[in-house]
Amino acid sequence: MSKKPIRLAVVVGSTRKGRLGPTVAKWFIEQARTHGDLDIAVLDLAEAGLPAELSGPPKDGVYASPQVTAYAAEVAAADAFVVITPEYNRGYPAGLKLAIDSVYSEWHAKPVAFVSHGGYSGGLRAVEQLRQVFVELHAMTIRDSVSFPMANEQFSEGGKPRDAEGAAVAAKQMLNQLVWWAEALRTAREDRPYAF
Ligand code: FNR
Repeated sequence: MSKKPIRLAVVVGSTRKGRLGPTVAKWFIEQARTHGDLDIAVLDLAEAGLPAELSGPPKDGVYASPQVTAYAAEVAAADAFVVITPEYNRGYPAGLKLAIDSVYSEWHAKPVAFVSHGGYSGGLRAVEQLRQVFVELHAMTIRDSVSFPMANEQFSEGGKPRDAEGAAVAAKQMLNQLVWWAEALRTAREDRPYAF
């Protein structure tokens, strides 16, 4: 069994100017750093520069767009994902869908967890929709998530959520589940390539 640390990619799903997403991501990354042996990468979709037009399948790992090739390499390198998503009009951001659809087998047989931020819903409706999308990508979504209702108010005090203790407990529980799946699925992928 591989002893390398789990490579966790934290996907920042909102891209608009003045977004809260990076504040939520920064808080989450602090939680993940204290969790244990994780090799954390940040995939900020505002910086990925993915073209709006999907580039189609790669040839020998190279996509038509260099930005997609670089992004695909990050997704391929990851053993697990945490998607930080806001909720927009009861769904998730269009830019996040573009990022999900831009690659395919790179997601396969890997676990995906969610940290959501929204208004009254806490972004939970966006998360439920994302679960439906990720199943098509042969990904395993994690039961527990962390959600922040009225997120702008929650994070108004120096980038920390108002209920910092409760949020830390929720993040720990989610990370426990995510790491369990990440280790199990990495071992399984190493043992037998997932090719279905
Ligand atoms: C929202 N927001 C929101 N919240 C919610 O609970 N349900 C919703 O349907 C919506 N719809 C919505 C649409 C649009 C266009 C925006 C800009 C916002 C609130 C939103 O989820 C919340 O403020 C997030 O924290 C915003 O994240 P970012 O974009 O600042 O990272």
